[in-house]
Amino acid sequence: MNAATLSSRGQWSTHMAFILAAVGSAIGLGNIWKFPFIVGMYGGGAFILVYLVFILIIGTPVMMTEIMLGRRGRQSPVGTMQTLAMQAGRSAAWRYVGWFGMLAGFLILSYYSVVGGEVMAYVFRAGSGAFENQTADGIRAILTRLIGEPEKLLAWHTIFMVLTTIVVARGLRLGLERTVRWLMPALFVLLLILVGYAMSLKGFDQAVDFLFRPDFDRLFYLQDSHGRFVLDDEGQRIFTWTPVMVAMGHSFFTLSLGMGAIMVYGSYLNREVSIFRMTLAVVSADTVVAILAGLAIFPLVFTAELAPGEGPDLIFLTLPLAFGSMPGGAFFGTLFFLLLLFAAWSSAISLMEPAVAWLSERHAARFDRAAAATWIGILIWLLGIVSVFATSGTTLRDVIEPVVKWLGIDGMDFDSRVFSLNLFNIIDFATANIMLPLGGLAMIVFAAWFMRSESIQAEMAMERTVVVRGWRLLIRYVTPVAILFVFFYRLVVSVQA
Ligand code: PHE
Repeated sequence: MNAATLSSRGQWSTHMAFILAAVGSAIGLGNIWKFPFIVGMYGGGAFILVYLVFILIIGTPVMMTEIMLGRRGRQSPVGTMQTLAMQAGRSAAWRYVGWFGMLAGFLILSYYSVVGGEVMAYVFRAGSGAFENQTADGIRAILTRLIGEPEKLLAWHTIFMVLTTIVVARGLRLGLERTVRWLMPALFVLLLILVGYAMSLKGFDQAVDFLFRPDFDRLFYLQDSHGRFVLDDEGQRIFTWTPVMVAMGHSFFTLSLGMGAIMVYGSYLNREVSIFRMTLAVVSADTVVAILAGLAIFPLVFTAELAPGEGPDLIFLTLPLAFGSMPGGAFFGTLFFLLLLFAAWSSAISLMEPAVAWLSERHAARFDRAAAATWIGILIWLLGIVSVFATSGTTLRDVIEPVVKWLGIDGMDFDSRVFSLNLFNIIDFATANIMLPLGGLAMIVFAAWFMRSESIQAEMAMERTVVVRGWRLLIRYVTPVAILFVFFYRLVVSVQA
């Protein structure tokens, strides 16, 4: 790679710029919308414990690997994987890891943007005092009015995608760096204010107990939204491995791993910095924010005596209800949704970056960065329409049944649970819990077993020996075995749940 190509694709102006951008990517709806609702659904402390173990043995080594691969390849994930594979005398088919990641990024951003749009709408709802002194039904009506009308949701989704595309189109330094430089500090300040507020509430202790006291029965046995165990016909509790799988998927999702976002950010990083240090900074910031988000949200939930297991609507139903019943609720509620919006925005940017980098590198003659960003933005916007309708209540059955009827096929049975699933949930589940872990697995297998070891040594020259040894040990044996074990167990042992 010559100097001209390097400068045309850009480099971070400082190490701090990389950290801010990677932290901006990592901290997102995953931390403040998803983490609290899955913790609520899967029983609190024990789930968090398993999640933290995965962050350590999976998230951290995979992030180091992605940064290393990106910095070595210095191209989009597709180009990087292909170049590195060919350098090592391996098949160029490794580039499909990049393609698979781009696909995951498209799918994730398509629904991410719809949630981001909802969040934007809620900034205004909260700001106008719409939640004040509302009943549970009143709050539900506010949500229904928003998501029940696809054109409203579509409008918000459009605004969110436009905002995201503008930043990506302006490029690394003018777009991304400038945006995250004020977004990230603002996010931390908002979060600390909210945690301070939560500490003053009477439900704080209960929240701490819920978040930090591990109760493994709650992890392994199915519960309803109030945390009561679901029983089978014989009155037995029902075993489930799903929460463990979700905890693993979330360790990828929350750190933006397995799809090339961190890889492409790594490709703009210079060789003078330690990959381990960068990783440590990003992983710690992300984890601290997730825990703080829990500490900001659950005290509200418990103070208002609401159920923590509401699922994805925790943020849009439970929380507004709680804010509405509290002094200063309108103000703090607005801050909260603003925080969520900032977090979502900087992550959305990174979800687009691999594809934009690929298009403007592969078809440089036809697409400059701005054009590439515009086209990718339009494609993802279109895909997002699926999630718009799904959020409004469209299920898999609603889509497949007419097609099957139209094809003239009779007697197909649509009663299975699969068909009643919401497409939105399917995309979320499949990307986070299946695609990202598989993508990450492919990357570490490549780095551990296929890449030239001189290349790795060159990239890892800055690191301490024990770090390199530890990392190698993890990506060769521990991490892949952990990922495969979770998959295997979920598929074979607990298919029923
Ligand atoms: N890490 C982001 C979050 O927690 C989501 C994300 C996933 C961003 C994958 C980029 C790539 O919300």
